[in-house]
Amino acid sequence: MSLSTQHVLTLGELTSKEFDGILQLSIQMKKDLGTGTVRPLLRNKTLAMIFQKPSTRTRISFEVGMYHLGGHAINLSSGDMQLSRGESIADTARTISRYADCLMARVYDHDQIDALARHSTIPVINGLSNMFHPCQTLADFVTVLERKGSLRGLRIAWIGDGNNVCNSMIYGAALSGATMSIATPADLRPSAQAVGDASKLTTIDLTTDPAEAATGADVVVTDTFKSIHDSGGVREDKLFPRYQVNDTTMSMAKPDAIFLHCLPATRGREVTPSVIDGPQSAVWDEAENRLHSQKALLALLMGATLDI
Ligand code: CP
Ligand code: NVA
Repeated sequence: MSLSTQHVLTLGELTSKEFDGILQLSIQMKKDLGTGTVRPLLRNKTLAMIFQKPSTRTRISFEVGMYHLGGHAINLSSGDMQLSRGESIADTARTISRYADCLMARVYDHDQIDALARHSTIPVINGLSNMFHPCQTLADFVTVLERKGSLRGLRIAWIGDGNNVCNSMIYGAALSGATMSIATPADLRPSAQAVGDASKLTTIDLTTDPAEAATGADVVVTDTFKSIHDSGGVREDKLFPRYQVNDTTMSMAKPDAIFLHCLPATRGREVTPSVIDGPQSAVWDEAENRLHSQKALLALLMGATLDI
């Protein structure tokens, strides 16, 4: 299989078939790792990684993933690059394209990842922007698929901030046929563009009532109330305590519902310890699946020959 898109910036670039193919390949990569099967699909390939923001999971999983695939990753903090002295995004993209085979970037303004893609001749992956976090969605849907066996028709409740993670998850729902019920304060709704695009393919309900979203859900998801780009804590004031995921929230979902959180989490704010550290939580599998799903994505974007 191959991908028809050169870049993955929102997730909206993928077809349903491609999305499913990435999930299947992720599960295969995970099995291979478990059985010690080495597939050096990206031997001699280099991934350049630019970070304008902090990261634990994204940074480590991409670097380890490239190592597993026989390639190499370079970690570039934007503060150490000439970007910090005013070199343009365009010239940075053109330069990196002459050295590396793929570029992953974590940025503030989504326009910056768009500009990197526009001026790169190599594939560009969004490792989180203020608007989207597509790699997180891949790992989230691998986790749901593992736990539930299929995605079509599942009901996902998003409760909290209608943020970057939520926006990409909306595309994931559309691509997989899952439905979403999204509870946020009225002024913290997810991207109208993402909701509009996804609503052509699946049901995306917006509400301000967390109970309405949680009732009957197969998956309950939240994220920090204080994203990296929200320094003021204004959003958190609107979200806490009403949108916290706690035992009452989980009791409204299906008895076998799972809980997801992209991490990092603040226990006692967006989620209680009883939920994130409880039996319904799948957050550690979710974090691990960043590795497997990004390996699948990297292999496909860099044109590895695959028998899946
Ligand atoms: N979930 C996630 O992207 O984590 P990091 O910010 O640690 O990379
Ligand atoms: N919404 C969070 C996700 C962190 C992985 C943020 O942007 O900081």
